[in-house]
Amino acid sequence: MQVKIKPNLAEDRVWPKEGWTRVPYWVYTDPDLYQRELETFFYGPSWNYVALECEIPETGSYKRSWIGERQVVVVRGKNDEVFVWENRCAHRGARVCWKNKGKEESFTCPYHQWNFALDGELQGVPLKRGVLRKGGMPSDFDNSKHGLKRLNVHIEGGSIWASFHETPPSFNDYCGPQVLANLNRQFPGKKLRLLGYNRQRIPSNWKLYFENLKDPYHATLLHSFLITFGLWRADTQSESIPVNSGHSLMISRNVGKKKTEATSEIMRFKEGLVLNDLDSVTPKSEFEDGKVVAITHFPSVVIHQQANTFGMRHVIPKGPGEFELAWTFFGYADDDDEMTRLRVRHANLYGPAGFVAMEDGEVLSESQLGTHHYSQHAAVIEMGGRDVEPQDHMVTEVLIRAFYKHYRELMGV
Ligand SMILES: [Fe+2]
Repeated sequence: MQVKIKPNLAEDRVWPKEGWTRVPYWVYTDPDLYQRELETFFYGPSWNYVALECEIPETGSYKRSWIGERQVVVVRGKNDEVFVWENRCAHRGARVCWKNKGKEESFTCPYHQWNFALDGELQGVPLKRGVLRKGGMPSDFDNSKHGLKRLNVHIEGGSIWASFHETPPSFNDYCGPQVLANLNRQFPGKKLRLLGYNRQRIPSNWKLYFENLKDPYHATLLHSFLITFGLWRADTQSESIPVNSGHSLMISRNVGKKKTEATSEIMRFKEGLVLNDLDSVTPKSEFEDGKVVAITHFPSVVIHQQANTFGMRHVIPKGPGEFELAWTFFGYADDDDEMTRLRVRHANLYGPAGFVAMEDGEVLSESQLGTHHYSQHAAVIEMGGRDVEPQDHMVTEVLIRAFYKHYRELMGV
């Protein structure tokens, strides 16, 4: 793999001798390492989630999105083709698209009004021939060489992915068979329906968000709502599967409310608590396999299916100590009214003020605070053993260990 820029790291950036069972705190705070991560993962040979097809339904519909810290625009062009280009005028670098969503026939940079077609081609330069035979562009100026920077695009069952790399691996290879099978399970090619958005800033390193999802057992301790009302428990039949390219799968089942050995150690399990409105935690059976699946698709998105809610959690880094989390909730276009109602209802578990997700934002900012000024300390990642093999339970940090094995190989740290 090729990495164009590799900032040098300070000499004391040495990984602890214990290897992947430790994560040194400088990986969450070092600005040079952060630059290297952007180049290696987001701008390298990866596939990044940018939008859902249902967000850009017609010719000219567009959505502004992000890959790492770079802004891109996802546009439906002529003949239904989807284009993703960098939101940076080929002339002086100004952003040509200033709105999050909309519909346009073409895009005009506000600065000197260079005009670009939906596919990013430059189609007009004001004063190109000058005024009164004076000025203007050189006669050999070729519009076709000054379009917007276009990215490689892949569409998988209505989800749109893009890559800055000129020759990225195939999307299938990048996912690997297990992630692809689970993507196809949730995105079987049926038309999707957009249900809504949430957006939040979390003052922590962006990797901590992936680690949060690669640590399923925290949910049995931290999230009172999940434990108490029966959506998640430590004895839930589950699988923790690390996959290539830094991805992972967490597969589980809904269990129902019950006091067991697995709940006895959990302070937050309150047998006496009842919900007056069970609708908010009671799923309608949907997938034949009865499973609940969370896919962490590195480096850009976590895809969830919990109860009847589906969500894309787009991870947008904003420096080493902060990231934006953009949630997109969706369903299938052919869902009946009752299923759509349940998908929206269960979406209350998630987002900045979700019954469950609210706590993640808080604890991640706590972890980040603990890493500042302690770069020579390290996190201990030994739950579930010290290996990186798939495990048939959730009381494990194996997915985090496997992730840092991959991370160190690519980052050279
Ligand atoms: Fe959590």
